Amino acid sequence: MASSNGAAQVLVASNRGPVSYAVEDDGSLRAKRGGGGLVSGLSAIGPDAGALWVCSVLSDGDREAVRRGVGEDGVRMLDVPADVHADAYNGIANSVLWFVHHMLYQTPLEPVFDAEFRRQWASYEAYNRAFAEALAEEAARGAAVLVQDYHLTLVPGMLRELRPDLRIAHFSHTPWAPPEYFAMLPDDIARQVLRGMLGADRLGFLTQRWADAFTACCERFADGLGRTRIGVHGLGADADFLRSRSREADVEERIAALREEIGEGRRTIVRVDRTELSKNIVRGLLAYRQLLDERPEWRERVVHVAFAYPSRQDLAVYRDYTAEVRRLAEEINERYGTPGWRPVVLHVRDDFARSLAAYRLADVALVNPIRDGMNLVAKEVPVVSEAGCALVLSREAGAHEELGEDALTVNPYDVVETARALHEALTMGPDERAERTERLAAAATALPPARWFLEQLEALLHGPASR
Ligand code: G6P
Repeated sequence: MASSNGAAQVLVASNRGPVSYAVEDDGSLRAKRGGGGLVSGLSAIGPDAGALWVCSVLSDGDREAVRRGVGEDGVRMLDVPADVHADAYNGIANSVLWFVHHMLYQTPLEPVFDAEFRRQWASYEAYNRAFAEALAEEAARGAAVLVQDYHLTLVPGMLRELRPDLRIAHFSHTPWAPPEYFAMLPDDIARQVLRGMLGADRLGFLTQRWADAFTACCERFADGLGRTRIGVHGLGADADFLRSRSREADVEERIAALREEIGEGRRTIVRVDRTELSKNIVRGLLAYRQLLDERPEWRERVVHVAFAYPSRQDLAVYRDYTAEVRRLAEEINERYGTPGWRPVVLHVRDDFARSLAAYRLADVALVNPIRDGMNLVAKEVPVVSEAGCALVLSREAGAHEELGEDALTVNPYDVVETARALHEALTMGPDERAERTERLAAAATALPPARWFLEQLEALLHGPASR
């Protein structure tokens, strides 16, 4: 797979890369390219910038691609042994660090940091070391390395030891836990995570709130930030891409199909998420049920279009959550549905064109996470919306810092309040809705992915080095 032979000037490191592979029935490999802020951000520096993306093998198809030596230019996939990756990704990153930062543990059952956790932690260290070594090998003298997210918190410190000449940044796409919650981690692990991150010259967060929480953790568990600088970069929606992509033929087809499912003259409450515990889909359905219960006038007149795409299905807790989402949607449909009206239209197969179709049609968007680094759905809907869309938004989403004024704010745990906000959103007059949507769209696109990326790169290269 592509290697720069020590010549890369800008390196990005993340668990999930920009491309993945599947083995077809005839043995050929099919490449699937991902989207997202990093992909469009990195493309902003152009093909001649000497950029290399180091990521992990995530599937059998990826492993096969590495074995056959095929791959994209500018992408190097690390073939970390499958069991090491499983421990690091499922065990530590997604079951411990994700849970800590999103405050998802349910005492008295969780967390338990036992010998199995220690074994998995050793894999997390090995996984981070594999990245640090690959980056050290690929980076040109003085290159900029941008490490991403909670999977790779130890990389900056490890890489700093291997290559003191590099400029190293780390960006967190998640919230950061407050110190009282972070303190749940065993002391030595908490310190190791912070020391790993503080190996960077610069740490980036999506909001000031998460940056402050990180700083507070460093004050409690380390000797403060030392010389590492902190920056806040609130990733925005990619307006140009979304506006043109949402006008393509496949989106028009999905609109026609969705209209069929919704039925003539009905309002739509839309949500689009990975089936992720922190997204709070179950309480969203409970709030919708409460609305139908408390306000019978909405029966037959509204449909909840809920897209809950598969995520992290290796973890039992995610599989159980997916099953609960399905069960509750069915229960609502059985209890309230009539021959001509299905109150909840639930789709679980990932389909980006259909998401855009729903954004275009939405009267109300429901974004009610328990905690969320940013939440780009809240930013994308106002950009794509056709007739204006009222936004019901959790105060715990990072996006709330930028969109709170024109959204209807909810406490994500309070389903009665959420039901009332849904009612208020559904009854908002068309002019007010359109005006708010316009302001939301402006706020949501204030920092497009290309600028978000360049801003970080500039600050890393031209700001003072931490050492
Ligand atoms: C969050 C994380 C990303 C991650 C994504 C999807 O947004 O911040 O790092 O890639 O979830 O999760 P997955 O486990 O499928 O990569």
